[in-house]
Amino acid sequence: MCGIVGYVGPRPSQDILLAGLARLEYRGYDSAGIAVIDDNGSLGMRKKAGKLQVLRDSLEDAALPDGTTGIGHTRWATHGGPTDANAHPHLADDDRLALIHNGIIENFALLKAELEADGVDFRSETDTEVAAALIGREYRRTGDLQEAFRAVVNRLEGAFTLLAVHKDEPGLVVAARRNSPLVIGLGEGENFLGSDVAAFVDHTRRALAIGQDEIVAITPAAVTVTDFAGNPVTPEPFDVSWDAASAEKGGWPSFMAKEVAEEPDAVANTIRGRVQDGAVVIPELDGSDELFRGIDRIIITACGTASYAGMVGKYALEQWARVPVDVELAHEFRYRDPVIGENTLVVSISQSGETMDTLMAVKYARERGARTLSICNTQGATIPRESDAVVYTHAGPEVAVASTKAFVAQITALLLLGLHAGRVRGTVSAADAAAAVADLEALPAKIAKVLADEQAHVTQLAGWMADTRSVLFLGRHVGYPIALEGALKLKEISYIHAEGFAAGELKHGPIALIEPGQPVFVLLPSPRHSALLHAKVVSNIQEIRARGARVIVIAEEGDAAVLPFADEVIRIPLAGALFEPILAVVPLQIFAMALATAKGLDVDQPRNLAKSVTVE
Ligand code: F6R
Repeated sequence: MCGIVGYVGPRPSQDILLAGLARLEYRGYDSAGIAVIDDNGSLGMRKKAGKLQVLRDSLEDAALPDGTTGIGHTRWATHGGPTDANAHPHLADDDRLALIHNGIIENFALLKAELEADGVDFRSETDTEVAAALIGREYRRTGDLQEAFRAVVNRLEGAFTLLAVHKDEPGLVVAARRNSPLVIGLGEGENFLGSDVAAFVDHTRRALAIGQDEIVAITPAAVTVTDFAGNPVTPEPFDVSWDAASAEKGGWPSFMAKEVAEEPDAVANTIRGRVQDGAVVIPELDGSDELFRGIDRIIITACGTASYAGMVGKYALEQWARVPVDVELAHEFRYRDPVIGENTLVVSISQSGETMDTLMAVKYARERGARTLSICNTQGATIPRESDAVVYTHAGPEVAVASTKAFVAQITALLLLGLHAGRVRGTVSAADAAAAVADLEALPAKIAKVLADEQAHVTQLAGWMADTRSVLFLGRHVGYPIALEGALKLKEISYIHAEGFAAGELKHGPIALIEPGQPVFVLLPSPRHSALLHAKVVSNIQEIRARGARVIVIAEEGDAAVLPFADEVIRIPLAGALFEPILAVVPLQIFAMALATAKGLDVDQPRNLAKSVTVE
């Protein structure tokens, strides 16, 4: 939520900031703005409601001074609607200081009252302008931007990444972070700041991760990091593992289309290096055997799509590692009094590694003595840094707001984790592990086959259904989370009412929704895994068909049992029971994308959403 970029160096900063914002726009697209300072110390600022293009157009109409120091922001509104006035940057100290912010300052009302009593007039409804005014006031007292930050940050409650420039200190950007993301990009004679590495990956792949409660100052020649008290801190260096091209749309109509097409690679790259002699060995977990041996319970915590990956993971971990597993939405988990302790392993799942609800759940679990492991797709992100161990998914950068390739990579990582834990705990037989590894390694080719065989069919189906007002999704066992995910994808990008149900739940209420013509997707489990479960779902199909539903079945190749009752059948290749979800979700992702496209909607940037939810 909100993208932030900062630059100091010899080059005109405006284009660098705008290119960085374009890469971060998925984090929020309500409004955008930049502030630049030239070598003569003049500060130019422009901000506009609307997508980044509105700002670009405005800058083309009337250029800003060509400053080599600058900050840029793309906003997802929290305090105050998406207007020009509420867009960032916000100015203070007689328009000599510009500040941008990601997060929420929870005590802003109190601070605002104090400033108003001090005679400060506010031009926006934002919490950010309050931080700007406080730092501006301290700057007037100290004449030093870092000093001013230090005086203010401890007064702010909530989550923030703040970046500021001051016209009296050209060649300097100062930043602070608490519970919101910030990384440094190291260039030659120039340095960068960003909400994530996408902000500067065009220019450098050398980065520094910033810890909680730290203040950063970048100049063209140096980077200094201190804690909030001013004590020096050594940031952790890392190399960005993907290049700029992987965050480009290339020739694809949307990032989402590109990212769905990349799913075979996302799965293959997540498996790579984690299979040795036919067994799963996750090198990052070397020396962490105790993490798995000493536990009597696992809690998986995550939000949205990641939580559905967690629901699939529950089946895998329970089957192979023989530990009870609960899956909890992160924002529910920490607001009750869960039974956790040192024998509990809390596994968090997050593509961005920045989701505030999930981060807070991890912190909460640690405070209560639980061990924590995160599954994350983003290097240098906060959640892995706050966890005892991390297993990275290697899906590459995911730009479209709706998660696709990260989801299949998350399930893959959970399958790997289940097999790793099962091996360490001695609860999975060598034969079962070898069969599972064979299933895992076959997945990329099978996803590619679903894409090749079903993309046109599903796209055509979506085209026919462009006027549909409601779609239901049914699944059982690991098909249930996939039904939930199919419904979520459709809601978020097509704005169509959609609901996912456990098929067995149908008769307990939801069947009342079925009326003639109601489209229902049904995930049919393979009869090879459980003839009983298969038969039960076929019965469910008959029940809804009898009430006039239009039934679209996702079934494995060769399963003919469903043909008499299905209006459409989408085929997926044969796979082990726990591996089917990775194949079955692909047509549902394509369906949501194609339907949104048929409705003329922006597939990558759906309304009201942002990719990375860094506020609670
Ligand atoms: C839906 C979607 C969201 C995210 C959720 C968690 O397509 O992307 O539901 O899965 O906001 O995000 P991460 O995984 O970044 O923690």
